[in-house]
Amino acid sequence: MRSHKCGELNTAHLGETVDLCGWVHRRRDHGGVIFIDLRDRAGLVQIVFDPDTVETFTLAESVRSEYVLKIQGKVRNRPEGTINPNMATGEIEVLIQQIEILNKSETPPFPLESDLEVNEDTRLRYRYIDLRRDEMQQKMRFRRDVSRNLRNFLDKRDYFEVETPYLTKATPEGARDYLVPSRTHENAFFALPQSPQLYKQLLMIAGMDKYYQIVRCFRDEDLRADRQPEFTQLDIETSFMDEDGIMSDMEEMIREVFDKNLGVSLPEVFPRITYHESMRRFGSDRPDLRIPLELVDIAEDMKAVDFKVFSAPANDPNGRVVAMRLPDGNKLSRKDIDGLTKFVGIYGARGLAYIKVNDRHAGLDGLQSPIVKFAPAEVWESVLAKTKAQTGDLIFFGADKITVVNEAMGALRVKLGLEHGLIQGNWKPIWVVDFPMFDWDDKSQRWNAIHHPFTAPSCNAEELEVNPGAALSRAYDLVLNGTEIGGGSIRIHKTEMQSLVFKLLGIGEKEAKEKFGFLLEALKYGCPPHGGIAFGLDRLVMLMTHSSSIREVIAFPKTQTAACPLVNAPAEVSDKQLQELGIKLCKIKEG
Ligand code: AMO
Ligand code: AMP
Repeated sequence: MRSHKCGELNTAHLGETVDLCGWVHRRRDHGGVIFIDLRDRAGLVQIVFDPDTVETFTLAESVRSEYVLKIQGKVRNRPEGTINPNMATGEIEVLIQQIEILNKSETPPFPLESDLEVNEDTRLRYRYIDLRRDEMQQKMRFRRDVSRNLRNFLDKRDYFEVETPYLTKATPEGARDYLVPSRTHENAFFALPQSPQLYKQLLMIAGMDKYYQIVRCFRDEDLRADRQPEFTQLDIETSFMDEDGIMSDMEEMIREVFDKNLGVSLPEVFPRITYHESMRRFGSDRPDLRIPLELVDIAEDMKAVDFKVFSAPANDPNGRVVAMRLPDGNKLSRKDIDGLTKFVGIYGARGLAYIKVNDRHAGLDGLQSPIVKFAPAEVWESVLAKTKAQTGDLIFFGADKITVVNEAMGALRVKLGLEHGLIQGNWKPIWVVDFPMFDWDDKSQRWNAIHHPFTAPSCNAEELEVNPGAALSRAYDLVLNGTEIGGGSIRIHKTEMQSLVFKLLGIGEKEAKEKFGFLLEALKYGCPPHGGIAFGLDRLVMLMTHSSSIREVIAFPKTQTAACPLVNAPAEVSDKQLQELGIKLCKIKEG
């Protein structure tokens, strides 16, 4: 139907007669001359209608935004003074010879100008129109290019692409499963994979050596700006490689993608930090290194003070007391601090003590704070020295259970960093390593796997069994600017160790056999040492395009309530379908 794409035309085509198809982006009437910006995936081109050719002109008068046209015309230079340097095709225009309306369009629910604020529900409801917008086209193209470059890198490195099933059995990655009832097996359900974790391990046992897949994963969990119920992983597994080998390959891959897609040079070697150091300094296992603020432990100073809010956690082995210095923070008003106190409250903090350092060299007189009175001058001197406080600064304090302090002060650190313009540098990748194997779940009174139950411990079986809480794992996360973009580990490759880990996780022998019998069996048939990683492709693209949410880089994302307003999913199904599946619906009692 066409000889060229609209956005591809340039002065090399001058004088040519071209056939174009596309959408009416904009129509302008200029004193008898009509201009149409015709748009296709390649971009826009200006079409000119001369009033002397009555038939085409009349038709042009009738077209509206988003009509689909087929035109024939001649490429010519734009007249002097009308060249548009902001447009790729801005030096030329196409003088119309023939026009055909291929289809009409209703008035779109929102205009396609890229800087327009349209509510997200409407955008998702009409996603096929939203995706026509230049901004979305660019994001989709960028995503395609990132995937392509990742693939190219892995193909070059002899990674082998294999597809794994979607209709499968539960793979524990810490979320709820999406279940699919089986019609052919009564009372039985498939689970959609939370990740291809077990299949990729089986592929190593199958001798595939190095595997990758760009693959959809399904997790029924609470949604946030960087989470979707179905999302895409770049999933990777290797045999006979240790963590250093895997991390170094992955660094190279991420470096290549940043270089090719953004022209950005990431550091030659990404820094590494242990989980414990990261929690201690940043209150988080995904530290945003662009923010120079740090938590400083001051429990030692607070053990004997006359302020229970501080002394109690200072003396509690599960407690933590920290100070965090905000440079030039003493300008903050009472109202600002009240707002921040409310903010840390979201994370369970019961308050947010502070000291304004009005004069660092004036002793107690230089400090302004409701809590100075609770401790002698030496204590505050020690705190100021530890935090390297200077005149004009403000010190915030967090005192509570370790988890509350870390979450609240970690979140406060990021908020202050972003809101006070403290960000340094553009891209700060970091590996977080030496995670604990398990964390203790008070509610269910058992250990949980921090990565997943197939991750190898750094210690031997005996040490693991004696003190599971102290054991470290061979897991590693790649964090970029405070977002976890990838996570992986060296796996357990021996049946005995895998059985022990199941046991420590409270998975009895019978349950282990039912859920993971196939894995325990496969490990017995010459399983090579292996390990891997998975990257969140959507998250990576979200960061690289500076998008505000993961939904901005997914063609058809789900809403915050895990629904699709475009096709109206999830939806009720017919009685006949339920009957075939042997399913009877019952109303779940409230409360
Ligand atoms: P993990 O659960 O850490 O590891 O997932 C790997 C990466 O996937 C991304 N991610 C998500 N992205 C969007 N929405 C979600 N709901 C979501 N959940 C996770 C994150 C994360 O770093 N099988 C292991 C990997 C391995 O051990 O090899 C796994 O799935 O960027
Ligand atoms: P109060 O004596 O409760 O008025 O608290 C004095 C100061 O300590 C106030 O600024 C509170 O916001 C702060 N504060 C109270 N509890 C905590 C806590 N757990 N961590 C940090 N600061 C707190």
